[in-house]
Amino acid sequence: MIEPIKTIIKDELSEEDKEKYSLLGKELIANSQVAVCILAGGQGTRLGHDGPKGTFIVPLKEPKSIFQIQVETLLRAYKEFGSYPNLYVMTSKDNDQITKEFFKSNNFFGYPKEKIKFFVQGELPLTDRNKNPLNAMAPNGNGGIFKALEDEGILQEMKDQNIKYLVTQNVDNILANPIDAISIGILKENNAEIGIKSIIKAYPDERVGNTVLKDGRPTVIEYVDFPKNLAEELDENGELKYKEAHFGVNYLSIDLLNRIAEEKLPIHEAYKSNDKYGDFIKYEMFIFDGFEKANNGLVIRVKREDEFAPIKNKEGNDSPETASIMYEEKYK
Ligand code: UTP
Repeated sequence: MIEPIKTIIKDELSEEDKEKYSLLGKELIANSQVAVCILAGGQGTRLGHDGPKGTFIVPLKEPKSIFQIQVETLLRAYKEFGSYPNLYVMTSKDNDQITKEFFKSNNFFGYPKEKIKFFVQGELPLTDRNKNPLNAMAPNGNGGIFKALEDEGILQEMKDQNIKYLVTQNVDNILANPIDAISIGILKENNAEIGIKSIIKAYPDERVGNTVLKDGRPTVIEYVDFPKNLAEELDENGELKYKEAHFGVNYLSIDLLNRIAEEKLPIHEAYKSNDKYGDFIKYEMFIFDGFEKANNGLVIRVKREDEFAPIKNKEGNDSPETASIMYEEKYK
């Protein structure tokens, strides 16, 4: 059963609660018990940049790459909390080498290099539309993170270092704010295994995941799979009934990661076409299909203009131009 989900609205917390959560969060951050993972194994076909998406130069007043922007966010966290969160970068077989070289040739953007680790996600075979193999492989979707964390020894490293939460974020959101003391404090206080950040959906068919309660557990349903009647349904105040949009910033406890790594996630089919293979099917797992395994989860709503400026398309919505305007506004 799908129901709307209750959220904690960060902005509406009392000053007292903000202070309390912030102290709890700061303690975990300062003790290096929160790590960050950038999901950078995607192919970024819509943007069409030649190279990993993180190497794209964002047309800011002072142009810089997406990876630089993400690392600068963590450098600010260091200034605030006095410790460098471990940074894990998930790459694909195709872009792993070039991603590593980019970080190296840019001197890791001033971040301690021993704090950055790259790990490679898995692949799945492509097929034609009749499901005959095409003898070609492609990244297995951002849900490939769970098995890759285990296979590449990152999960063990996090356990050994007594890390409690891994924050995952999309590479292309240049306002992502993973090291957020208040949100981390809320998770700690509630002993939550998963924390999903949300923003209010701009319009019914916005291309974002829908964060909902499914059979009593928080989860995300991708826009393509979300029934149109639910997407358009209004509540008694005339607002969208299902308005919590997932924008890719998630806090996962290490216990939860451990559990999901042992499970099989559903495999979604994406119908694609290109010059090389004609019409074909790509098979992908989604990170949020793991969320339902959490025993205790919560959703924290933040403001779009504070935390979400995606670069998905060459132009128009969610493009380098729109994201740059939001970035300049935030950091003016
Ligand atoms: P998207 O679904 O937006 O895909 O990924 P994309 O590859 O960036 O762009 P398009 O759809 O081809 O234009 C959301 C996040 O998940 C990562 C992406 O890098 C992005 O940060 N991702 C996606 C992976 O890490 N691995 C994958 O196999 C797919």
